[in-house]
Amino acid sequence: MKRFLLLLSLFIFPVSFALAEYQRATQGMVSSRSDIASEVGKEILALGGNAIDAAVATGFALSVTYPSAGNLGGGGFMVISLANGEVLTLDYREKAPATAHRDMFLDDKGDVDRELALNSHQSAGVPGSVAGLLEALDKYGSLNREQVLAPAIRLAEEGFILNQEIAGQFRGHFNSFRNYPASLAKFSANGSPLNAGALWRQPDLARTLSAISDKGRDGFYKGSVADLIVADMQANNGLISHEDLINYQPVWRAPVHGSYRGYDVWSMPAPSSGGVLLVQMLNMLEPYNIEKLGWGSTETVHLMIEAQRRAYADRAEHLGDPDYVEVPSSMLTSKDYARQRFANFDPQVAGDSAKITAGNWGEESPQTTHYSVADDEGNAVSVTTTLNRSYGNHIVVPGAGFLLNNEMDDFSSKPNSPNSYGLIGRTANEIQPGKRMLSSMSPTIITRDGKPVLLTGSPGGSTIINTVLQVVMNVIDHHMSLEDAVTSPRFHHQWMPDVVRYEIGAISDEVAAELEAMGHQGLNGSRRTIGEANSVMFENGFIDGVSDPRIVGGVAGF
Ligand code: DON
Repeated sequence: MKRFLLLLSLFIFPVSFALAEYQRATQGMVSSRSDIASEVGKEILALGGNAIDAAVATGFALSVTYPSAGNLGGGGFMVISLANGEVLTLDYREKAPATAHRDMFLDDKGDVDRELALNSHQSAGVPGSVAGLLEALDKYGSLNREQVLAPAIRLAEEGFILNQEIAGQFRGHFNSFRNYPASLAKFSANGSPLNAGALWRQPDLARTLSAISDKGRDGFYKGSVADLIVADMQANNGLISHEDLINYQPVWRAPVHGSYRGYDVWSMPAPSSGGVLLVQMLNMLEPYNIEKLGWGSTETVHLMIEAQRRAYADRAEHLGDPDYVEVPSSMLTSKDYARQRFANFDPQVAGDSAKITAGNWGEESPQTTHYSVADDEGNAVSVTTTLNRSYGNHIVVPGAGFLLNNEMDDFSSKPNSPNSYGLIGRTANEIQPGKRMLSSMSPTIITRDGKPVLLTGSPGGSTIINTVLQVVMNVIDHHMSLEDAVTSPRFHHQWMPDVVRYEIGAISDEVAAELEAMGHQGLNGSRRTIGEANSVMFENGFIDGVSDPRIVGGVAGF
């Protein structure tokens, strides 16, 4: 199976698909989108830090080496499984500023102004990453702040050599950076595009990171960095105020917990929809013998699409920030509910999503990032972090050296009007002051008998949850190695729009024809990749790490 999938992947993605970066280790492992950031995590583990220290150091390093998604100006979610068996989640999602209001992105005609929602100072939520990473370090790390921030400061100060891919991204976004002098200054060499091979230094970012190292959260949410953020907001109709920054707090939340064929599934609760939908889908699929039906068979794909259709429909209706709306998580993740919800499943016929036209998926580019970290004491950390779209709103805070997010577009700006991932929502996810926007980010840890088995998660907007679903099922149902589980091609359905999207190889022509005959739509294939699941798995006493081969990344184990 493994060789088959590897050959398949080479055949399918001959140009952009590098071989999986895979390592087997015994003492610790970091898998992230940036080989430099993974090395930073490994250095911290080798220094005697635990997985939480390494995850925090990797997070700060990603803000330097992987600027499209690694961030100080965004937010994220962290799932931690401690050596003692306890599982925790930390929510450091951005929040709507206090002066945000429900209709802030609507134009005179009542339509969503997409530019305003995505490419403006108003598109930025109050950043959570710095507070979140420091909170995790404070509660469960073993090293001090200076130690975990030192590598990121060094990388920003001394610079690092740009690779082909990141230099290419800078070029791709060059026109957007040109709209903001501080962005142009950061991502160019005096106004000219930076080339691969160039040494890229970020002195402003180094100063901001040093302020965080010296003063902790006050180095970011108060003082000169906060002044720079607020000044930029005030000069450009932005909403984030000093009070918003001072008031920002990350939240420890009880994980979403489910079970699947004897494994425990731990994932992110609301304001992410990820954990609830993942458990809901697994519950709907558990009664079926997926192993016997086989990977990629018409029966399996049909079952999974139907589970996806139902779960994503619930997302639009029920999910939002639990501090503002009642999210019926226990109901949605119960086995009983799944049974009822799936009672109208027809093995022969595709379900019928209501006939509302929703938008297409937004263009998928590297916009969010997932990393997984494990140590040899049995601690494991699974983190997904984002600026929302690639390079957020492209606005670098002048003098502070980091990009702002455009996470406000993850709110439902208008009922049933799709956001940039084609996701629709209603009142549960409408904009309210101080509220967290609904997310799909799904950092997940699978355990068995209280011990971590698999750490996974992904970027990809709405597709994230289905990527995680497939990695988990590949391991549990199809008994794949981590390399195969991550490499195998994926498909995605999100209820609305009622189409199946898939990587080549995920659904064969024969299966596509059969699914079409059942009434499934959109089976004309796609060369787009879905997700990027940088994962870690514990197997036979080893710690395996894989950085998703769909895009260059890096694992570092020892
Ligand atoms: O929180 C969310 O669900 C989105 N802002 C994540 C964006 C994303 O994954 C984009 N990546 N390709």
